[in-house]
Amino acid sequence: MQTESNSQRIAVTGATGRVGSHVVEILEQRGHAVVPIARSKGVDVVSGEGLDEALAGAETIIDTATGPSPDQEEATAFFTASARNLQRAGAAAGAKRIVVVSIIGIDKFQGGYNAAKVAQEQTLLEGPLPVRIVRAAQFHEFVDQLVGWTIQDGVAYLPELRTQLVAARAVAETLADAAEEPEIENGKITEVAGPREERLADVAAALFASRGDSFEIREGRQPGDPDAAAYAEGAALPNPGAKLAGPSFEEWLAAA
Ligand SMILES: NC(=O)c1ccc[n+]([C@@H]2O[C@H](COP(=O)([O-])OP(=O)(O)OC[C@H]3O[C@@H](n4cnc5c(N)ncnc54)[C@H](OP(=O)(O)O)[C@@H]3O)[C@@H](O)[C@H]2O)c1
Repeated sequence: MQTESNSQRIAVTGATGRVGSHVVEILEQRGHAVVPIARSKGVDVVSGEGLDEALAGAETIIDTATGPSPDQEEATAFFTASARNLQRAGAAAGAKRIVVVSIIGIDKFQGGYNAAKVAQEQTLLEGPLPVRIVRAAQFHEFVDQLVGWTIQDGVAYLPELRTQLVAARAVAETLADAAEEPEIENGKITEVAGPREERLADVAAALFASRGDSFEIREGRQPGDPDAAAYAEGAALPNPGAKLAGPSFEEWLAAA
């Protein structure tokens, strides 16, 4: 819990998203002044519209914004533009640091959205403000969308993905903790993941069962995906020293 003297003004991009909405709530509970940033709040991190005004007086920026597309080129364009804009406008506003949410294992993959996240981290690290990186496992809340992208004619064609799924709330706690660190260590990476390893096919089956969905599940390496082996071999799993936090997917689903 923050005292009034160490409370900060913190701008949160992606403030209405899966993880950003929890970040806003947690920071407010801890006594910080929060500036929520999203297009629906009139601020665009890609075009820069409204950004200078939103960041005025902010000490810390927590960046959880993402565009809607998982396509490598579109996501890279989003993240490099937003990273440059946040560094420029943040420095002009006198901010002290940027905390960004990224994904565990991104540098072990060859392409796709992971490569766009690598570009985001690198572009942020080229800017004037120090950057603190929190790499998270896939969120429990993301499974529905991830699986939905693979469904064709009643069949979910799932990649062999080993992951240690985590609740967005636990990731948000870790981001809030990073924003409150007294020392700012540029480039430091913390990993946060759930309590146990899961297979995407197993959690998809649990999700379908909980909803009474009758989709067939076919798990396999997608032909032509250069990252299929990496996913199957555990490249998305956390490294030793990662912060592990519940609930498990099963517990989260039961409570949802
Ligand atoms: N989902 C996962 O499993 C997962 C796992 C690890 C890391 N991450 C990372 O966590 C971050 C957030 O993911 P999420 O799943 O929470 O995202 P999300 O639910 O899709 O939310 C995206 C947020 O970004 C905002 N946004 C989109 N375009 C914007 C723009 N041009 N300017 C300002 N705000 C914009 C959206 O609000 P508006 O639409 O109103 O603008 C929304 O608040 C991403 O960087 C992602 O890579 C996600």
